[in-house]
Amino acid sequence: MKKVLTYGTFDLLHFGHINLLKRAKALGDYLIVGLSTDEFNEGKNKKAYHSFENRKMIVESIRFVDEAIPEKSWDQKIEDVIKHEVDLFVMGDDWEGHFDFLKEYCEVVYLPRTIGVSTSQIKKDLKAIQNG
Ligand code: CTP
Repeated sequence: MKKVLTYGTFDLLHFGHINLLKRAKALGDYLIVGLSTDEFNEGKNKKAYHSFENRKMIVESIRFVDEAIPEKSWDQKIEDVIKHEVDLFVMGDDWEGHFDFLKEYCEVVYLPRTIGVSTSQIKKDLKAIQNG
């Protein structure tokens, strides 16, 4: 069984997220999502609208996702790859090159992002609509 691992916040779920998860799953048999915790996001000055628990429930309901694990820090990736016996690490190409150090432990693939959608953009657009 080929295990695939990816990370992200997956707040305000959109078709770019689904596209990424669908392609990631298609590259293997079992998809694990490392979901950024609220504390980890705080450290990045990022605040998700949905809590970690609710994002976990949502992400685990997606048919391409087999399991969601907490992403608590930048440096847990090697440990996660080993612990979960991951064969392939996948990220959107906004992270191109950033995780090449994992090539020592598994295959690493960067998938093209879906153009024209992001959680940050959705938040901005909703604010603009609200402000008329
Ligand atoms: N992603 C993608 N296409 C998009 C948006 C996100 O492929 N249009 C991918 C990212 O590359 C990442 C995963 O989805 O691998 C989770 O991304 P995340 O940062 O949670 O979503 P964004 O919508 O980019 O959120 P933000 O705007 O807050 O960064």
